[in-house]
Amino acid sequence: MPSVVDFSGTLQPSHEEWVKSVYDECRTSMSFKFHDSIIKEFFASSQFLYEQMPLGKLHAVTCEYINGEKQFYHRAQKFYEDVTPSEEGMMGDFVELSEVDLEGSRQFLKKFVGGPGKASTKRALDCGCGIGRVSKGVFFPIFETMEMADMTEEFLLHAHEEYLGDYADRVESYYCYNLKDLILPPIRYDVVWIQWVACHLTDKDLMEFLKRCQTSLRPNGVIIIKDNMARQGCKLDPTDSSLQRHLDVMKFIIGKAGLKVLDVQKQEGFPEVMVPIWMIAMR
Ligand SMILES: C[S@@+](CC[C@H](N)C(=O)[O-])C[C@H]1O[C@@H](n2cnc3c(N)ncnc32)[C@H](O)[C@@H]1O
Repeated sequence: MPSVVDFSGTLQPSHEEWVKSVYDECRTSMSFKFHDSIIKEFFASSQFLYEQMPLGKLHAVTCEYINGEKQFYHRAQKFYEDVTPSEEGMMGDFVELSEVDLEGSRQFLKKFVGGPGKASTKRALDCGCGIGRVSKGVFFPIFETMEMADMTEEFLLHAHEEYLGDYADRVESYYCYNLKDLILPPIRYDVVWIQWVACHLTDKDLMEFLKRCQTSLRPNGVIIIKDNMARQGCKLDPTDSSLQRHLDVMKFIIGKAGLKVLDVQKQEGFPEVMVPIWMIAMR
């Protein structure tokens, strides 16, 4: 049936209105892209990150690439270039707490290493090892050999040439890599220790790294994450690209990596005003 459509009452948009609506559409699709990439990289933490800064800035500090380089990792790299290769550098302003931290680690490690049904003491991997503070204080006295991984070459050189002393002879390999790119040999380590560095990986990269750690474990081997964990939600520090996650968020990522949590323990002896530090054992 023929119809006559009466356009007389229809408002034709002005050019300015048209430009604005196209702009709004693009803006919407841009924010969709921002959301999409943030959720892919921070699938467990994203809902908490949204509360902290506007979407555009959040995208820039978490997901933006400049000259092919992801700014999240670039900023951390720049940050550590200015950190001195020393125990003070590794501990921030809290070097006096280093021994408390190491003793807490020794006690926690005992639960999983050396004895029937526990991991053996052949070889451990210290991830984000820095100058080797944890390797020296916790692992060398127990393990036959060590491997150490850190993205900052200066720290590894200092470890080998100075800090570790004679222990350096028992280091089988130094891996100067960002953990997000580190491929591990299969069935090699009794313990994979990840201290104060899980916070520098995106959720996705941490999950992928944990999967690779799992395949690198020897029988009864164990992976241990020790890190600052937020009391609530997640908090991102864009200065050094570190992300404090609540213990439950961390456990969610661990579960997504296909690992089972064996035990969790809070580090005691640190002042209450500080961000809580937790150790999580898994395999
Ligand atoms: C706070 S220090 C801790 C060092 C050591 N775990 C300790 O407890 O003494 C963090 C270390 O992680 C390293 N790091 C940060 N992000 C990294 C990444 N994505 N891949 C590998 N190493 C990283 C830094 O170079 C630095 O040595």
